[in-house]
Amino acid sequence: MEKKVRRIGVFTSGGDAPGMNAAVRAVARTALHMGIECIGIRRGYHGLINGDFLPLDFNSVSGLSRRGGTMLYSARSKEFMVPEGREKAVATCKLLGIDGLVGIGGDGTFRGLLELSKLGVAVVGVPGTIDNDIACSSYTIGYDTACNTAIDSIDKLRDTMQSHERCSVVEVMGRHAGHLALYVGVACGATAVIVPEQEIDYEHDLIEPIRQARSHEQRTHFMVIVAEGVEGGAYGVAEKIREATALDTRVTILGHVQRGGAPSARDRVTATYMGYEAVKLLVAGKTNRVICLQDDKYVDFDIAEALSMKKSLDIQTYTVMKALTGMEQLKPKA
Ligand code: F6P
Repeated sequence: MEKKVRRIGVFTSGGDAPGMNAAVRAVARTALHMGIECIGIRRGYHGLINGDFLPLDFNSVSGLSRRGGTMLYSARSKEFMVPEGREKAVATCKLLGIDGLVGIGGDGTFRGLLELSKLGVAVVGVPGTIDNDIACSSYTIGYDTACNTAIDSIDKLRDTMQSHERCSVVEVMGRHAGHLALYVGVACGATAVIVPEQEIDYEHDLIEPIRQARSHEQRTHFMVIVAEGVEGGAYGVAEKIREATALDTRVTILGHVQRGGAPSARDRVTATYMGYEAVKLLVAGKTNRVICLQDDKYVDFDIAEALSMKKSLDIQTYTVMKALTGMEQLKPKA
């Protein structure tokens, strides 16, 4: 017979993302609606190991959807990486009477959930990361807000670059993935977008188009977007441009500003749906699942299977970007 779920724990882990709070609220409110208690675990796996928690009632999550960051704090726990740490986390779950656990975060968070499920804890993952790099889901909470934040900063930067006839090289987050950089680059009409997934011939794909635009179209300012996972990063790319063109080239690293701010409507609503679906899965007796968005539908995936998948760059968007910027051939990395 299925065990009745009486208490659910929820935590956020890894890099925070706008919309995580909305997901926490959705988990708590859905649980309460179903007559289940909800507790928030603070500081991710670190809090799970140390029993750092707070009860979440209806009012304690009120007004949370519009708030950036995460009210539960986030952390990356070294202790959880070793079996003893994980045993402690399981002991906390038992002590607190947690019948199901919802972890909101990226692939690191899901790896942790998988380990806990092997130790008998019922777990569901909700994808929350600005990187949008979870393969089983077309979307991860925080991506839209991070894109908009980056675009807003780049638009401002463009004004001053134009005034001074400079070349701007902007580094966008994304860890090893270029999804954020590509989307942002298309949205702000960049001169070029450089991502780790695609090979680039700097002379042919970047320097030459800049030279052509300068001599034939009298363009005097340029905006190059670089994903942080690109070898050498924005400084390396800027150096290449400077050496080849003598343009006054400046680097801006957008950094953690992309992780902050009030979540967009898309992030609030997606987070709300995902939090709701996560609780429903646990109540249905499911475990070791991750909530995903596929073809506008919320579905769930086995965590191990989800972790084994690799999200490739959206080649259609990359092709459009290249066509519009003058970067030509597609050369996917081997
Ligand atoms: O995964 C989200 C992310 O913001 C990445 O884009 C970035 O590489 C990383 O986290 C930065 O992590 P931290 O805040 O620990 O430096």
